Amino acid sequence: MVSRDAVLSALSKVEDPELKKPFAELDMIQEVTVEGDSVHIDLLLTVPGCPLKDKITSDLTEAAQSVEGVEKVDVKFSVMTDEQRERLKAKLGHTAQMPKPSRSPGDYARRVICIASGKGGVGKSTVTANLGCALARRGNRVGLLDADVYGFSIPHMVGVSGRPMAEGDQLIPMQRGENMQVMSMGFFIDENEPIIWRGPLLHKAINQFLTDVKWENLDYLLIDLPPGTGDVTITIAHAVPSAELIVVTTPQVTATSVAGRVAKMTEKTDLSVIGVIENMAYYEVNGSKDYIFGKEGGKHLAERLEVALLGEIPLDTAIREGSDTGRPAALSDHASLSKLFDALAADVEKVGAR
Ligand SMILES: Nc1ncnc2c1ncn2[C@@H]1O[C@H](COP(=O)(O)OP(=O)(O)OP(=O)(O)O)[C@@H](O)[C@H]1O
Ligand SMILES: [Mg+2]
Repeated sequence: MVSRDAVLSALSKVEDPELKKPFAELDMIQEVTVEGDSVHIDLLLTVPGCPLKDKITSDLTEAAQSVEGVEKVDVKFSVMTDEQRERLKAKLGHTAQMPKPSRSPGDYARRVICIASGKGGVGKSTVTANLGCALARRGNRVGLLDADVYGFSIPHMVGVSGRPMAEGDQLIPMQRGENMQVMSMGFFIDENEPIIWRGPLLHKAINQFLTDVKWENLDYLLIDLPPGTGDVTITIAHAVPSAELIVVTTPQVTATSVAGRVAKMTEKTDLSVIGVIENMAYYEVNGSKDYIFGKEGGKHLAERLEVALLGEIPLDTAIREGSDTGRPAALSDHASLSKLFDALAADVEKVGAR
């Protein structure tokens, strides 16, 4: 029989890696329960999205397992209330440095999905807008983050304008309908102004979008990336390691090979590719399909990456018009297109669902 006191005594020495004091002394261990050979630990974190969760888990696990008979250890985290944080601050004294909140979109959304492409103009933003609308129509709470800080197009495509309000140090995203929230650099910059980002500023702007937007309890956060494998994609990959990625391509061989490069880049990060969407797959006239940009490029890319081909979207005037008028085709009464985007959303819900 494992003694809870023995476990508590073993845990009493484990220190917070940032505050350099034992968790127990800081009243951060909320609960310890012992069931047979299993130990459950509830730990209070000072800030959400603590980057040291893995280290803390392994330190606590190791300490608990040093007690004879302990086999399984599971560590759960919750976040301190403002009051608890104030108490901790008082305990640490005035000179102590409390960790700064480092939030991540993963704290606000069940799934974070980046939409990427190798080259420009293949329809990433169009896909993001339509997929987002279709997911929202299916009852999901959806956030759209336009991370294309040079060529932002999401606000226009989903018909949202205005300037986001601030609440404390956070920005409140713009609301579209009941289920959708939107954030874009486009809300802050005059469309006719040239934008010149210098490296560090770009990094800062993207990070701010990732940490300082107050999304509300999302099912999906879709991030519309700029084309290619540039800085923005790398920054996001590091900030949201749990994110998934969908590659958009046209059927053309050159387009699919650059799209493959994007997917390859994810091997250097923790992003997981969940599927390919082929856009501009064909043009349909009187029921017959014309494969203007070639055929099955998306299918071959999906096979190469060993992921699902999530959809083949036709080249259709209604899709372009929907984006131009702020009412994506996914929401229109164009039956075959709204059905197609609904099926795409259903596939995304299924693939990689956690
Ligand atoms: N399936 C489609 N049918 C008709 N028009 C489309 C389709 N997909 C995209 N378009 C149009 O093609 C243009 C480029 O699309 P979009 O802006 O979505 O591409 P992108 O990959 O986001 O481009 P960028 O690399 O510049 O961000 C837009 O005018 C859009 O309306
Ligand atoms: Mg775009």
